Amino acid sequence: MPTPAELKAEILRLTREYSAMVHRANRPGAENANEFTPGKTTIPYAGRVFTEDEVEAAVGSTLDFWLTLGPEGEAFEKELASYLGVKHSLLVNSGSSANLVAFSALTSHKLPPHKRILPGDEVITVAAGFPTTVAPIVQYGAIPVFMDNDPATGNAQVDQLERAYSPGKTKAVMMAHTLGNPFDLGAVLEFCRKHDLWLIEDNCDALGCTYSMPIERAKALGITSNSPGIPENGTHITRYTGTWGDISTQSFYPPHHLTMGEGGAVNIVSRPPLKTYAESFRDWGRDCWCASGKDNTCNKRFDWQLGELPKGYDHKYIYSHLGYNLKPLDPQAAIGRQQLKKLAAFVEARKTNWEHLRAGLADLSEFFDFSLPTHATGWTSQGFTWDNTGCRTDCSWFGFMIRVKPGAPFTHTELGRHLDSQKIGNRMLFGGNLLRQPVFVQLKKDRPSAFRTIGELPGADQIMNQAIFLGTYPGLSKAMLDHMVKVIRDYCHSRK
Ligand SMILES: Cc1ncc(COP(=O)(O)O)c(C=O)c1O
Repeated sequence: MPTPAELKAEILRLTREYSAMVHRANRPGAENANEFTPGKTTIPYAGRVFTEDEVEAAVGSTLDFWLTLGPEGEAFEKELASYLGVKHSLLVNSGSSANLVAFSALTSHKLPPHKRILPGDEVITVAAGFPTTVAPIVQYGAIPVFMDNDPATGNAQVDQLERAYSPGKTKAVMMAHTLGNPFDLGAVLEFCRKHDLWLIEDNCDALGCTYSMPIERAKALGITSNSPGIPENGTHITRYTGTWGDISTQSFYPPHHLTMGEGGAVNIVSRPPLKTYAESFRDWGRDCWCASGKDNTCNKRFDWQLGELPKGYDHKYIYSHLGYNLKPLDPQAAIGRQQLKKLAAFVEARKTNWEHLRAGLADLSEFFDFSLPTHATGWTSQGFTWDNTGCRTDCSWFGFMIRVKPGAPFTHTELGRHLDSQKIGNRMLFGGNLLRQPVFVQLKKDRPSAFRTIGELPGADQIMNQAIFLGTYPGLSKAMLDHMVKVIRDYCHSRK
């Protein structure tokens, strides 16, 4: 009769064997190149990339059957925080939940009054992006103030920051590093420090991207060290995106830099109390911070007197916020832990794939405007040229964005349709100009003062009308990338 440990080992051995057989197409790029038939095999714009390690971890954790966030979650939170070099990371069930929790933490009544975001306060963001970066602001009754996008980087036009600022009302800047391209953290952080504002970095599409700032400029912002594992170079501070502001968010939905199916994280960069507030909003709004399965972490479970409750009321059922339950399952975290070990390779693959597409399409500037990393002024096959701020970005691209020129013989929709017909995955840049989405058109009718915009937002419109992005994810093989380039080149020349 086998022991439970022996049975488990056998199940996991068979699991690996099974996964190695049936999930071959999900292995990182080069390994599945031989299975690719141009024109026949679909090339997704993104997807899960994993080996039998992740499947074994999922099955192992399922056999343990802890289910709710537990030992794997705790370990993942520590490992992610240590990779990024932040105080804490909290797991949640999606990037959207991460944005909700991160924003909510800054509304806590436990914050000093001048730092607490209240309904009617303003939060500066950007017009073309993902809707759930903005939704928590509106849902809470705060007012998003939309800056325009720079179509070349996809990020905010930071010269609009001062125009977006309302003394006494603006409390935070909350926006994403678009498609793995860090926004201008130098300008944004200096603005935030000047006006004592929170910075929430939506890092959902940018895990593993870095931003470098000249040392003296970074020191003036109170930032003195590189992220873990990044060697010092004597001239710049280099840190991962998601570690420059106060709080940041990740998504682990399959297209993202690492996946656990559904999932996300809130990173508490440097102010530990934000962890308690974020955790409270994630976990029903409770005041208690016991991990699941624990009962008296504070050692005074029956000694608190809070609100108008009687002294000694069970701390496990004391609520200091109007919270949610946004926790993921433990097997998700087990998958995430395996993915995290591969993150460095994933990040490199995304960079290489972007370069491959960029080089392959380089002579099509008659048809396309190409994206640039923030602070870059141009691209050559030798590398980027840079502006004179001294700041640099190193992008782990979520996608390869091109803008179809207004004078081109086809539109971005036509190109997208053609690529679709050739089984080449493509996407528009999320919601385009969000203010043209039905939800915001309706909101303007229902509550005209629910948001503000800075000017007419022509950059966001340009992204909406011209931009399309292709995949850069680590599941793409060289043969797939070559095919993508060929199909686009053939299409351009056929439409001339
Ligand atoms: C910038 C950005 N923020 C937030 C999200 C939401 O993440 P999730 O799909 O995990 O809710 C996404 C989704 O892709 C995103 O691109």
